[in-house]
Amino acid sequence: MTDRIRLGVNIDHVATIRNARGGAHPDPLKAAELAAYAGADGITAHLREDRRHISDNDLKNLEDKITLPLNLEMAATEEMVAIAVHHRPHAVCIVPEKREEQTTEGGLDAAGQIAFLKPIVEKLTAVGIRVSLFIEPDDTQVRAAKTLGVPVVELHTGRYANSVNEELSSELNRIKEAAKLARSFNIEVHAGHGLTYENVMPIAAMPEIAELNIGHFLIGEAIFIGLEASIKRMRYLMDAARAEDTADFLVKHIPL
Ligand code: PXP
Repeated sequence: MTDRIRLGVNIDHVATIRNARGGAHPDPLKAAELAAYAGADGITAHLREDRRHISDNDLKNLEDKITLPLNLEMAATEEMVAIAVHHRPHAVCIVPEKREEQTTEGGLDAAGQIAFLKPIVEKLTAVGIRVSLFIEPDDTQVRAAKTLGVPVVELHTGRYANSVNEELSSELNRIKEAAKLARSFNIEVHAGHGLTYENVMPIAAMPEIAELNIGHFLIGEAIFIGLEASIKRMRYLMDAARAEDTADFLVKHIPL
């Protein structure tokens, strides 16, 4: 068995449902507490510029009340940097953000923005925040992360999640190569976006990857089987992928 892979549960879409009616239910804080109970290793939340899901008040509640490490996803803007410096989450993952997009479509162009990102990374690092960059699994972007001196990169798995047939194996290979390169620079590797029960195992099986951040699928699946079960099943598949004998693990640890 290789090192246990961590699961960060992204609770943004609990806030999406709450915001559809403008009230207080369902509460992302309650989801975060339940995620911890179900075996999540961290909570991830994306404070978007347009506040379409997580609000400033959610961030305050999470920061004040959860026991798990909080990973704040945010764009590299002056406003977000000030918020992060104020709240000091355990980690910040810098993501690209466009107002018109439905979700984070593609990775951050770290290689094209070294001079712009450098002071931001330094400012966050100076207050003790672990900075990560959400990048495409691409040689150039991983090298840029090294230049920027970040301790973590999160590889965008969106293209992999949308691939079929030969493209699927070439995307997996791209992720594997990027993860290996990052590890050779001693950068911790996370991955996420579009991961589901069906596609998580080949990613979780990569020993170079320390953490997966998963949101939309888990919250969607929770509608059918509940949040606790939805997270437990994902954990089970991740652990099975990482086990020495995956088939044996799958048989012996089926979650109830
Ligand atoms: N990681 C990052 C950096 C993201 O921006 C997102 C989407 O907000 C995720 C992981 C989770 O993606 P999904 O909701 O598709 O599981």
